[in-house]
Amino acid sequence: MGVKIFDTTLRDGEQSPGVSLNSEEKLKIAKQLAKLNVDVIEAGFPIASEGDFKGVKRIAEEVSGPVIAALARANPKDINRAGEALKAAAKPMIHTFIATSPIHMEYKLKKNEEEVLEAAVSAVKLAKEYTDLVEFSAEDAFRSDKDFLCKVFAAVIDAGATSINVPDTVGYATPQEFGGLIKYIKENTPNIEQAEISVHCHDDLGLSVANSIAAIENGADQIECAINGIGERAGNTSLEELALIFNTRYDYYGQKTDINLKEIYRTSRLVSNLTGMDIQANKAIVGKNAFAHESGIHQDGVIKERTTYEIMDAQTIGLKENKIVLGKHSGRHAFRDKLEDLGYQLEKKELNRAFKRFKELADKKKKISSFDLEAIVEGEIAQVEEVYQINLLQVTSSSGLSTATLQMEKDGEKIFESACSEGGPIDAIYEAMNRITGLECELVNYKIDAVTGGKDALGEVIVKLDHEGEIYLGRGVSTDVIEASAAAYNNAMNKILNSVDS
Ligand code: KIV
Ligand code: ZN
Repeated sequence: MGVKIFDTTLRDGEQSPGVSLNSEEKLKIAKQLAKLNVDVIEAGFPIASEGDFKGVKRIAEEVSGPVIAALARANPKDINRAGEALKAAAKPMIHTFIATSPIHMEYKLKKNEEEVLEAAVSAVKLAKEYTDLVEFSAEDAFRSDKDFLCKVFAAVIDAGATSINVPDTVGYATPQEFGGLIKYIKENTPNIEQAEISVHCHDDLGLSVANSIAAIENGADQIECAINGIGERAGNTSLEELALIFNTRYDYYGQKTDINLKEIYRTSRLVSNLTGMDIQANKAIVGKNAFAHESGIHQDGVIKERTTYEIMDAQTIGLKENKIVLGKHSGRHAFRDKLEDLGYQLEKKELNRAFKRFKELADKKKKISSFDLEAIVEGEIAQVEEVYQINLLQVTSSSGLSTATLQMEKDGEKIFESACSEGGPIDAIYEAMNRITGLECELVNYKIDAVTGGKDALGEVIVKLDHEGEIYLGRGVSTDVIEASAAAYNNAMNKILNSVDS
């Protein structure tokens, strides 16, 4: 059996600063994780909020294939809530945890070893009443006393835990030490063969992938990781790096994962778009430059023989060339076929909206590339039910003063509003939109990027709005950056207005 992949993008990943996903977005990511063929999806932490509970519940109801896990601290309230959220899952798992390191026990929990041991065992016993699969995590395991750790693991396995997880919660371990800890646990936990060993490494020192691999070399069965390596602080082990390491260096490790590698690129883009977390250009595997060659010598080498400078083929992860794929006269069938080629299967409503956007774009741009299509589709995937639509937008700017006039529509009613600003045209548009919707929100982030090169490149704008302490992300794509900016703000505002749902 290969290395099992436990994906925590929707739980630890969602704990990344500034990230907040609603239940619809979580469901989209979970469906894509199922296509990626991860073994376990950790869908959330149901006790944390109503939104988290709903996200886990919807994923449990609608996503099949992987095990669906929910996190719970080692107390009855958390476990009951996790059990409730997971009711509809075909393969549910409760993941319960308590810290075992002296520093956490003394300062955070104010519990001694006996009390922690007792809470861990009771938690696993209660979790077993809801699910056959129960994972127990010893938080801050790496800084725990090794013998106490083994004692806790032995007790929770006796209580029914089917996997025990060894987190390096603060990302302090080095590969040799972490591998050594796994070996020690295997040799000193008498019933260890009755459970799987999972590891969960944080990347504070940039060693999470190396530490996870060292754990596998020393007998661990499962790695907890996140797409694009997102997670608390510096993040978690990056799923795509691990999967490609085991695939590319099978000659050395002799281990494989069941990850469907062709879905890696798409999953990475989806997570980045919905969380608003950029991928650094030089990030291994999924960064923009990961398969780009700048130097003439390298380019020449790759043209003559790809493997001179490439150890992996970009197509392995589902990356497509940016070719011209459609034109002004392409019809709905050609559009749908091209999307299917690119691996997108849209629902009818999404397809209709995306086709409309394609036609508008083709009128302006004539030649549409695969990257343009991706941007259109990803824009549609991020859409929510539109409470407000933008019908007209007019902007003037001169001598440091900008004026925006908008017509927006809500339930058939057309509303006009204007605003002036010395802060530029975008500020004026956003002020007019605030007046129309009556929403009080603060723009905390605005980012603009070109999807492709050239004069007629698509501009993509991502905004983050703070509304009553919650962050809402909006995305807009257009050849006109002013339009893209308005669309992004409208997208975020519509998410706020739909947020009763999240
Ligand atoms: O980092 C950590 O210790 C965790 C646990 C809840 C597994 O995220
Ligand atoms: Zn963690």
